[in-house]
Amino acid sequence: MYTEKVMDHFQHPRNVGELENASGVGTVGNAKCGDIMRMYLDIDDNQVIQDVKFKTFGCGAAVATSSMATELVKGLTVQEALTVTNKAVMEALDGLPAVKVHCSLLAEEAIHAALWDYAEKNGIQIEGLKKPK
Ligand code: FES
Ligand code: FES
Repeated sequence: MYTEKVMDHFQHPRNVGELENASGVGTVGNAKCGDIMRMYLDIDDNQVIQDVKFKTFGCGAAVATSSMATELVKGLTVQEALTVTNKAVMEALDGLPAVKVHCSLLAEEAIHAALWDYAEKNGIQIEGLKKPK
């Protein structure tokens, strides 16, 4: 049911933890299952994401998609980070079972919430970024 890449990221999740003095922090909940995700971003003066960590009370699919999402956004600018959609993350994992697609939204939403937090703190605008609910 799960691809090898999903199993790998579930069993060995990358970038788990917290960042002290993060540039942006985003916490979101999944309305469908009640699971929670928190994303920490360290962003330098050139608006490049230097480091990223996540913590979740979520299912295996949420862990695997967040792990992959953190790998994908690291090194991108805040603007480029918007291309890391849940679809892009699922593709990078060679797919998710249909019933688990909603789990992949947590990572995307948490990244957006963390970017929003960063943008607000620094008085900048990230084009195309919507205010988190
Ligand atoms: Fe149960 Fe996500 S809601 S698997
Ligand atoms: Fe809640 Fe997957 S079941 S995030």
